[in-house]
Amino acid sequence: MRAVPAAIDDVLHRTIDGGGHVCVLTGAGMSAESGIPTFRGTHDSLWSRFDPMRLATAGAWREDPALVWGWYRWRMHRVREAQPNAGHRALAQLTRRVPLWLVTQNVDDLHERGGSTVDAHVHGNLFALRCFACGRAHEGPLDEYMDDAQRVEPMRCVACGDRIRPGVVWFGEALPEDAWTTAVDAATRCSLMLVVGTSGLVYPAAGLPALARRHGAVVVEINPELTALSADADHVWCATAAQALPLLAR
Ligand code: OAD
Repeated sequence: MRAVPAAIDDVLHRTIDGGGHVCVLTGAGMSAESGIPTFRGTHDSLWSRFDPMRLATAGAWREDPALVWGWYRWRMHRVREAQPNAGHRALAQLTRRVPLWLVTQNVDDLHERGGSTVDAHVHGNLFALRCFACGRAHEGPLDEYMDDAQRVEPMRCVACGDRIRPGVVWFGEALPEDAWTTAVDAATRCSLMLVVGTSGLVYPAAGLPALARRHGAVVVEINPELTALSADADHVWCATAAQALPLLAR
C-alpha cells in the first residue's frame, strides 16, 4: 500500500483547509500490531480464549477476585512488554497537521507512549488502579507479576482494606462520566471521524460514529475487515492501523 485512497485524502484536506477537527475512535485492532490480542475475531482473541462473564464483571470479581486479578496482571504485563506501533506514532504526528481528539476504547497506554494525548479512555485504563469498595486511587507500586493466568490475591486499599481492582470498565458498569462527555463532545463537533480497529459491537462507544455522522461529520473506517459499522461509514479503507495511519500523517 503506497497512498491514501483519493476520496479519503480529499476529505482530510477539506477538513484541514476548512479549519475542522478530526476525532479518532480507536479499538483493540489499533494495538494488534503491537502484539496485544484483540477481543474478537481471531482464534487467539481474548473472548475466544476466556469467558468475559468470569473475568470482566463486578460479580466475577466478588466471586473470585484472585482469578480476575491474576488475569488482569497478565494483561498488564503484556502491555508493559509491548511497544507502540507505527499507527500509534502516526496519530501523534497527525495532530501536527490537524486539530484532533483521540477517543479510545483501549485500556492500554500505547497511544500515550506513542506520543499522543488521549482525550477520552471510554473503557478506563488498566493501570488506573482503585479500591473496589471506596474508589480511592491506588498510588503504590504493582505487586510482582506472576505467570500466565495464575491466581493472584489482589493488593489491599490503605484506606479501607478492601481489594484493589483494575481501572477498566467491566460489563454492566457505567462508562467514566468525564471520558464519555468528552467523547460525545468530540463526536458532535468533528468534521471527520476516523474509526480505527474496532468491531463496533460494544455500545455506547459503537454509537459514536453514527452520532458524528448525524452532526455532519464524514466517517472513515480503517480496518482490515468489514465490521458492524462499515455499512454506515462514508468510506471504508481496508488496511491495518500501522499501514494506513502513517500514510495519513505524512
Ligand atoms: P474487537 O476485538 O471487538 O475488534 C477488533 C477489531 O480490530 C476488529 O474489527 C478487527 O478486524 C480489527 N483489527 C484487527 N487487527 C487490526 C489492525 N492491525 N489494524 C486495524 N484493525 C484491526 O475490539 P473492540 O472493538 O475494541 O470492552 O472491542 C470493544 C470492546 O469490547 C473493548 O473495549 C472491550 C471489549 O469487551 C471492555 O473491556 C469494556
